[in-house]
Amino acid sequence: MKAVVYHKPKEIRVEDVDDPKIQDPRDAIVRVTSTAICGSDLHIYNGTFPQARPMVLGHEFMGVVEEVGKEVSTLKKGDRVVVPFPIACGTCWFCHHDLPIHCENSNPKHYGPEGGVLKEKGGGLFGYTDLYGGYDGGQAEAVRVPYADYGPRKVPEGVPDEQVLFLTDIWPTGWAALDWAQLRGGETVAVFGCGPVGLMAQKAAWIQGAGRVIGIDIQEYRLEMARKAANAETVKGKGDHVVQAIRDMTDGRGADVCVDAVGMEADIGALRKAAAAIHLEAGTIDALQTAIRAVRRGGAVPVVGVYGTSYDNFPWGQIFDKGLRFHAGQAPVHYYIDRLMQLILEGKVTTHDIITHTLPLSEAPNAYRIFNEKEDGCVKVVLKP
Ligand SMILES: NC(=O)c1ccc[n+]([C@@H]2O[C@H](COP(=O)([O-])OP(=O)(O)OC[C@H]3O[C@@H](n4cnc5c(N)ncnc54)[C@H](O)[C@@H]3O)[C@@H](O)[C@H]2O)c1
Ligand SMILES: [Zn+2]
Ligand SMILES: [Zn+2]
Repeated sequence: MKAVVYHKPKEIRVEDVDDPKIQDPRDAIVRVTSTAICGSDLHIYNGTFPQARPMVLGHEFMGVVEEVGKEVSTLKKGDRVVVPFPIACGTCWFCHHDLPIHCENSNPKHYGPEGGVLKEKGGGLFGYTDLYGGYDGGQAEAVRVPYADYGPRKVPEGVPDEQVLFLTDIWPTGWAALDWAQLRGGETVAVFGCGPVGLMAQKAAWIQGAGRVIGIDIQEYRLEMARKAANAETVKGKGDHVVQAIRDMTDGRGADVCVDAVGMEADIGALRKAAAAIHLEAGTIDALQTAIRAVRRGGAVPVVGVYGTSYDNFPWGQIFDKGLRFHAGQAPVHYYIDRLMQLILEGKVTTHDIITHTLPLSEAPNAYRIFNEKEDGCVKVVLKP
């Protein structure tokens, strides 16, 4: 079958690979009908997350069940399913505590309590490096789905792929950021980053009770999408200018909540890049630092943008003085997915309005390039195998 294979930074190819096979009685094989490219894929694509051997990418996908292992009684051939990006067993301590992303069984080689840079990571992820389990991903014609009796959710007949595809990742991720912030109602929520994740956080903010939603980005066309798809006010830029603008909009206090939906690949100059490399930092915490400055005293900073290493000059004293609440990490998709599916089916939210490109799987190399380089108005790409 055809699949998107990562070889080295900026080099991915659509190639023939072996068809996936049932390896465990709890596996299913899913024929992929739609798959998306995520900002998280760009960390591998740009070499910020290392991957030594070639690997099939992709953790946002849905499709039709082709075959099930003999212990999977919840699915049958022909079912349409959407699959959460974390691979979770459903039976371990963390799965029982609604933290599937920390599953103790899905990443046997590299799992551990430490969360180090290159060791003791969390649970397995589809198509997300050997450190996260080495599973082939879903940017392919078909994919093996482990623990298929726990992760995949059936999609009702008649609902187009696009309407439910983002339940795999970005819609639960945006939702998680706001759930972590624990809004009481009427808050001003500033979301750093108007990429797919930031846009989902903005949509979630309204539904969870925000009184005002502000999107921040350095790309004008993404701010336009924030205004159009998430009804957000927008601020263009980064650093001092953004901090001042948000304080000006909030009687000098700062926003009640500042979501970091940028992560470590925030835009920085060459000098700062060199300094980060010297300190063995993957990327930068620039966007997070701006969020910490722009949030009000006693506010919340949910961090869904991904970070990979330790970072020098982390402003702990400022965080302490301002008395901030933090919650960071990958989203526990299994925990949110059913109620978020319901919101879509009831028409309370639309998530597919951020799709700017639908392309055949064979065009993946170009799709990665335009998404990474922010060309051609690209916000979110869906690939069709
Ligand atoms: N926590 C999770 O479970 C989870 C899930 C999916 C994605 N992510 C992460 O979320 C982040 C965003 O993902 P995405 O798909 O939206 O990616 P993206 O790269 O499309 O979006 C990032 C946006 O940030 C903007 N940006 C760059 N520097 C900025 C700055 N200094 N200030 C403000 N905006 C800036 C970019 O222009 C871009 O629009 C990534 O780090 C991704 O890995 C996390
Ligand atoms: Zn993703
Ligand atoms: Zn588990």
